[in-house]
Amino acid sequence: MSFSVAVIGAGTIGRSFAWLFARSGHSVRVLDTRGDLAEVVTSLQADVSADAAAHNMLASELGSISLADTVESAVADAAFVQESGPEDPQAKPQLFAQIAAAAPADAILATSSSTIPASLIARHLTTDAAARVIVGHPFNPPHLMPLVEVVPAPATSPDTVERALDFYRSCGREPVALNREVRGFVGNRLQNALMKEAISLVESGVISAPDLDAVMKNSLGLRWSAVGQFEAMHLGGGDAGIRGFMDHIGSSFAQIGELPLDLSDAGMAEVFAQVERAYGEKPSEAGAEARDRAQRAVLESRGQESTHSED
Ligand SMILES: NC(=O)c1ccc[n+]([C@@H]2O[C@H](COP(=O)([O-])OP(=O)(O)OC[C@H]3O[C@@H](n4cnc5c(N)ncnc54)[C@H](O)[C@@H]3O)[C@@H](O)[C@H]2O)c1
Repeated sequence: MSFSVAVIGAGTIGRSFAWLFARSGHSVRVLDTRGDLAEVVTSLQADVSADAAAHNMLASELGSISLADTVESAVADAAFVQESGPEDPQAKPQLFAQIAAAAPADAILATSSSTIPASLIARHLTTDAAARVIVGHPFNPPHLMPLVEVVPAPATSPDTVERALDFYRSCGREPVALNREVRGFVGNRLQNALMKEAISLVESGVISAPDLDAVMKNSLGLRWSAVGQFEAMHLGGGDAGIRGFMDHIGSSFAQIGELPLDLSDAGMAEVFAQVERAYGEKPSEAGAEARDRAQRAVLESRGQESTHSED
């Protein structure tokens, strides 16, 4: 089924979502305050068409991307709105008040926000509009990463959650709904725990930054591309599964104490220096391409669609 979708904000995330939605057959209206929006839209449309041709898709399977110049015209016919404007807790509620006033009365109003909960974004809205506001938090780039965290506020209706899940699935994503709002949602909380541990190991002189990366890539990263935390524990605990894992290893893991952590510039100086020495002062395009190639190969090996020629 093809939907009318509004993408509000065409930065890193909005452009990637616009591409994904159009490539998935939806008709997309894009709004941004940037001066080069027309060029952005033309180039996205060309990318979508080229990718579809490369995958031998029929023209009828493709959606379209067009430009809108006001919030009202962007959302007027939208069944689904994906807001990806700046991460500003003052601006998002105002933008959503404008979106809710102009969108159809049954449109789903989603935000890509990484940190601002739907309850805060919907706080100026009527109960009916607030029931349709939800976080649809992607991992970057959303056209490649299958996960979208769907995070309802207490006021969000169950129907909104179901419709948001269905919509993201229609775009080939693998959305997961959280039961309730929590700061950082789930993906970034997990990432944050690992980031802090990695920094403290390097700051404490236990290992160098590139060697820590090698440890991750060649052990946990590889495992986690196949199974998640709990499935890994269950498979790794012998006949007793996760219970065996906790019996044999889990309790001694739990006794591992924390190392000191200093996130100030001074504390991080050695980490910064090691990372820049290993990977160059600026992140390299070649590095990003190698990352995307490897991620695409993993997706393909898992039978998950990996589209897009450019990331
Ligand atoms: N970058 C990431 O890795 C990432 C990952 C997940 C979620 N997010 C979330 O996605 C959202 C967008 O992040 P981003 O990295 O794409 O930011 P970005 O700065 O690249 O893009 C924001 C875009 O919004 C536009 N904009 C500003 N005011 C606007 C307005 N009033 N109406 C319409 N457009 C407006 C800007 O011109 C810009 O193009 C944020 O909420 C962020 O938390 C980002």
